[in-house]
Amino acid sequence: MPIITFAIESSCDETSAAILRDGKVISNIISSQYFHKEYGGIVPELASRAHIQVIDEIVNRAISEAGIKKDEVSLIAASQGPGLIGSLLVGYNYAKGFALSRGVPFMGIDHIESHLFSCFIGKEEIDFPFIALVVSGGHTILFLVESYLSYKILGNTHDDAAGEAFDKVAKMLGLDYPGGPLIDKLAITGNPKFHKFPKSNIKGSPYDFSFSGIKTSVLYFLKNNYPTDNTNLPLSDIAASFQAAVTGSLIDKTIRAAKDHNIKTIAVSGGVSANSGLRNGFLEYENKGYSIYFPEKIYSTDNAAMIGYNAYLKFKANRGKAALSNENLLLKKAYARFRY
Ligand code: KG4
Ligand code: ZN
Repeated sequence: MPIITFAIESSCDETSAAILRDGKVISNIISSQYFHKEYGGIVPELASRAHIQVIDEIVNRAISEAGIKKDEVSLIAASQGPGLIGSLLVGYNYAKGFALSRGVPFMGIDHIESHLFSCFIGKEEIDFPFIALVVSGGHTILFLVESYLSYKILGNTHDDAAGEAFDKVAKMLGLDYPGGPLIDKLAITGNPKFHKFPKSNIKGSPYDFSFSGIKTSVLYFLKNNYPTDNTNLPLSDIAASFQAAVTGSLIDKTIRAAKDHNIKTIAVSGGVSANSGLRNGFLEYENKGYSIYFPEKIYSTDNAAMIGYNAYLKFKANRGKAALSNENLLLKKAYARFRY
């Protein structure tokens, strides 16, 4: 009998539902809340209300697109955290209610851990160990992953997450939210050597990140060079130079961690992994003997398929028991640093 997993993701501003058959995605519906643009960032209260409005429709579409009946579902999973609590509660409780009413095992799943495994969605087996960089709007974490159920945090950000820095710099440049994809697009035609924004290093913590310095240096660059009028900013050049500093720091530290641990496999995931500068920079290391994995672009930003895949991997590794997976104290300690 195949394992049919039904998964929900609602941790931030995407409502998503997916169905997987034995770890292969057969539907993955994502509804994004574009109205947050008007406010220049996510408004948590509005996000939770929007999840409530669309969740039924998104779940029904995922089920009908997969061509399955509800009573074929054998495992139910939902994002348990980190995330906005009001948003999480909508998807988590929906999934839990579905599981209770049908007597199907339920798993609360860690959102960050799901990004980490999203590079391998659809694969039955993953080769361990590997170094994972999870880089999103709320997190920048470097992991050493040893098995489906065990990993260590090697590095973390001391201030902003990389995606957050992209979004804040985009705002300074007068771009919409979320700014990451817009900076990425502008950077394609820009000169990354136009201005040298500083790559930060933290003394004694070679795998830790800091992006607030880069962000502040963009602010001063704009103030000093374009104090009164920013209508004619060389947007592409600034975007390319800023992106080079952020991606350079992400790549340098990840490669250093891989070298120090003598590991040649690297998985890069989370919203910022869609960045073309980051992808190209990492892919250069394929010529140096590294295997670099990224999620397909549709699985790099928030989606339920990655939640379902992670649940499926854990379910199998636990020989069919829906044990909770996120009792990792290191992870909890790491999350305590973030804005969620
Ligand atoms: O993983 P995600 O969808 O949500 C979080 O869990 O945060 O990541 C969203 C973040 C945003 O900060 C967005 O600006 C960034 O990912 N992002 C990008 C790109 N696409 C999304 N940043 C840089 N380049 C991109 N192409
Ligand atoms: Zn995410």
